[in-house]
Amino acid sequence: MRKNVFIKTYGCQMNVYDSARMADVLAPLGYGAVASPDTADMVILNTCHIREKAAEKVFSELGRLHQLQEERAAQGKRLVLAVAGCVAQAEGAEIARRAPYVDMVFGPQSYHRLPDMVARLGRDSGLVLETEFPVEDKFDNLPTPRHQTGPAVFLTIQEGCDKFCTFCVVPYTRGAEFSRPVADVIAEARQLVRGGAREITLLGQNVNAYHGVGPNGAAVGLGDLLRRMADEVDGLERLRYTTSHPRDVDDSLIAAHRDLDILMPYLHLPVQSGADGILAAMNRGHTAGDYRRIVARLREAQPNLAMSSDFIVGFPGESDADFEATMTLIREVGYAQAFSFKYSPRPGTPAATHDAPVPEAVKTARLAQLQALLGDQQRAFNQSFLGQTVSVLLDRPGRHRGQVAGRSPYLQPVQVAASPDLIGTIARVAIDEVLTNSLTGRLTAPSATGVSAA
Ligand code: SAH
Ligand code: SF4
Ligand code: F3S
Repeated sequence: MRKNVFIKTYGCQMNVYDSARMADVLAPLGYGAVASPDTADMVILNTCHIREKAAEKVFSELGRLHQLQEERAAQGKRLVLAVAGCVAQAEGAEIARRAPYVDMVFGPQSYHRLPDMVARLGRDSGLVLETEFPVEDKFDNLPTPRHQTGPAVFLTIQEGCDKFCTFCVVPYTRGAEFSRPVADVIAEARQLVRGGAREITLLGQNVNAYHGVGPNGAAVGLGDLLRRMADEVDGLERLRYTTSHPRDVDDSLIAAHRDLDILMPYLHLPVQSGADGILAAMNRGHTAGDYRRIVARLREAQPNLAMSSDFIVGFPGESDADFEATMTLIREVGYAQAFSFKYSPRPGTPAATHDAPVPEAVKTARLAQLQALLGDQQRAFNQSFLGQTVSVLLDRPGRHRGQVAGRSPYLQPVQVAASPDLIGTIARVAIDEVLTNSLTGRLTAPSATGVSAA
């Protein structure tokens, strides 16, 4: 009997990848993925624990879903509610306490065990809780990807983190670093390309700490893996990776940016702060100077490289001078795009017990100042494309009729006047308008499928 599952994804791209894998695992049990809870027999919230707001969203969503669950029960039907992801891993018991109507709670390493959990749901009463499995099992036991999201896809190659930045929950929710073997990564990449992928983003919480076993048994780093992907995955046209850590940028990775045409000239390399004292208190393991040198070497290798980053303002003990050091770093490096957050104390992390919290009003003011600067840089970066021609991977219908949308090498959304037949191809596009968050353009040449530019 066919059933419907609605999977709602919060947090990072690794959760996006995991949600697709959960859909793959559930398909043989008769579950088809649907886009809303209204017709669902099962709802899975794939959650994020990174900041307090992210975690709290889950509890409010559960409250809403509980109502739906009760309406269904009144009609004699069952709606199964499941919480997966990092909140499940970190707060399994808390979920059972605050939302006792939840049927299943399972962490990121247990997704391959879903068939067993679903069977137990039918058999036993009470909560099904799974938060204990080693990551090795997960990748060995997940089916190969079938739920593909279009021509630009994610592929998780590394999971977990051993860095223990003092503000961060990831080492606790995702566990120790684990890298998938090279052969598995290549096989999955080929499968994705056969399924229509043109662009693959390699994912890991700390992706450039990748050290997967290679064909001869020795560990292979990310730089080498990128080379192999470029050589061995026929039909792959674009390659990206995220998120990397400054400490793990090595010579081989820098050389990959110099040598590989399919490696996009855009790098998300979080720095968090520009003040050495704060970086030390965060346990980042690098100084602002180290970061500047790494960026300079990367730009020497790939002069077109555009940078993105993450910033935290108001980390405990952050002084006005520390914050100014971050602003200076931003002015010097220049970012195409960035994410920035107020520090959010997370239970169980070392920084949460720090005795010099920055007042909320100061955090708010600093974030506004920082985002104004980053916003100016992003606008200037986008503006520099006016009149330029860029390659765009067309991957979805556009905002308006007659438009198709895609991404530039720098991940800018681009709206292009073109036929939907071109979705899945890379087009040359002349940019004739720059809006706040996107570019607009027209095709410059007849495309591969023979549809003319006119
Ligand atoms: N592995 C990546 C990032 C993981 S989390 C890295 O090492 O950079 C994504 C971003 O969330 C982080 O880069 C950081 O900027 C932010 N973040 C993590 N914990 C946070 C916290 N407690 N408060 C505010 N922002 C946080
Ligand atoms: Fe968190 Fe730091 Fe690991 Fe990134 S490197 S996931 S910020 S602990
Ligand atoms: Fe959030 Fe977990 Fe990703 S905490 S950012 S979903 S690793």
